[in-house]
Amino acid sequence: MGDQKAFKTLDDLVDCKGKKILLRGDLNVPTHDGKISDTTRLERLAPTIQELVKKGAKVIVCSHFARPKGKVVPEMSLRPVGEALASVLKLPVAFADNCIGPDAQKAVDAMKDGDVLLLENTRFHAGEEKNDPTLSQDLASLADIYVDDAFSAAHRAHASTEGVTRYLPSFAGRLMENELNALGRALENPKRPVGAIVGGSKISTKLDLLSNMIAKVDVLVIGGAMANTFLAAQGVKVGKSLQEAEMHDTAREIMAKAKEKGCKILLPVDVVVAAELKNDPATKIVDVNAVPDDQMILDVGPKTVEVLNKALTELKTLVWNGPLGAFEFTPFDKATNAVAQEAAKLTKAGKLESVAGGGDTVSALKHAGVIHDMSYVSTAGGAFLEWLEGKALPGIIALTTLARETIPL
Ligand code: 3PG
Ligand code: MG
Repeated sequence: MGDQKAFKTLDDLVDCKGKKILLRGDLNVPTHDGKISDTTRLERLAPTIQELVKKGAKVIVCSHFARPKGKVVPEMSLRPVGEALASVLKLPVAFADNCIGPDAQKAVDAMKDGDVLLLENTRFHAGEEKNDPTLSQDLASLADIYVDDAFSAAHRAHASTEGVTRYLPSFAGRLMENELNALGRALENPKRPVGAIVGGSKISTKLDLLSNMIAKVDVLVIGGAMANTFLAAQGVKVGKSLQEAEMHDTAREIMAKAKEKGCKILLPVDVVVAAELKNDPATKIVDVNAVPDDQMILDVGPKTVEVLNKALTELKTLVWNGPLGAFEFTPFDKATNAVAQEAAKLTKAGKLESVAGGGDTVSALKHAGVIHDMSYVSTAGGAFLEWLEGKALPGIIALTTLARETIPL
C-alpha cells in the first residue's frame, strides 16, 4: 500500500452528487464522567465529511462506540457524539436511533443532497462484532457507496468495517488515506536509517511488535518499564523497579536476534530513581549500574537523553510508540519531553519523517507540546499496535482487494 495507492480514495469518487454514502468513522471518542474528553477523532474525520458534503452527497455516518456487547446500552448511545460532531463540522447532523431497519431508512429517506446523518452505535447489534453478513447487508442497503475512514477500527473484522465492503463499491476516506500513506512512508518504504522508540510497561504485551521492529528498523530505542526487564536480563540490578522476571530469556533472545539482523538496540545508560511513583518525590539520577535496592527507575536520565537525541540526528525516519518514563507524574516526563522536542525540531527542519501512535504516546506527545510538529500522529490505539506488529488489518485488506466483486444485495 502506501504511496503506490492500492486502494481507491475520494479522488476516484468524482461524481457523487445525490449519492448516498455510508461513511464508517471511528467516533469512539474518549469520555470522562460521561462527557466527551477529547474530540480529536471527530476533528480528523471532519475533512472527509466536509468534502462529501461539498460534492453534494448524502453522508450517512456510522460507527461503534465503547463496548455494549450487542445490546442497547443507553449510556453508550452515539447521540451526544453526534452533537459534538455537529459543532466540529459547524453543520447540522441528524440522528437515527438505530443503524439499520425502519428508523435508519426513514432518516435516510428524509435526507437532501449535502445532508449529514449519524446512525446509532453499530455495536448495539450482536452482528457487528460477529461480522454477520445480514447486518452488513442491512447497512449496505441504506447507501450506494461505502467510504471507510476508520483506520483505528481496521484491526476489527466487523460488519461495518469489513463485511460491508462486499456489498458496496468501497473507498478510503481522507483520514484513512493519510494514515495509510504516513504509515507506509514510515515502515514499508522508509528513508533509512529508520529508528523506533518503543516504550511502555510490559515486554509481554509487545513481543510481536518488538520482533517485527528488529527485522525492520536500524535502531531500536527501548524505554519505559520495558527497558528495566532488558537491563535486568543482562544482570543489571534494578532495585524495586517494575520488571518482568519471567521475560528475561525472551529479552535476551530479542537482543541476540537484533544483533543478527543488524538492528542496534539502545537501552538507558543512566536513570532517574525514586522510592515511590507520585508527583515530585525525592529523586536521584544514577548510572544504570547503581540503582539503589529500595528505589525504582521511573525515567531515563540526562546522559541517555543526550545519546538518544544524538541518535535522532542520524535518522531519516522515526516511529514512536510508548513513552520513555512514567510521564504522567512530574518530573518523570522530562526525558520523553526532551526527546519528543528534539524529534519535533528535526521534523520541522525537514530532516526527519516522524510517525507516532498509540493511546499513551498521543497523550505523551500532547503533554510535550509537539503533537502538531510530528509528520504524522495516528489516533489509532490497537490498530496502530497491530500495524507495528506487521499484522494485516482486515479493514485495510477489504479496501485494498480491488479485484473483489461487489455482491448485489
Ligand atoms: C479504539 O478506540 O482503539 C478503536 O475505536 C477500537 O475500539 P475497540 O478496541 O473497542 O475495538
Ligand atoms: Mg481499543
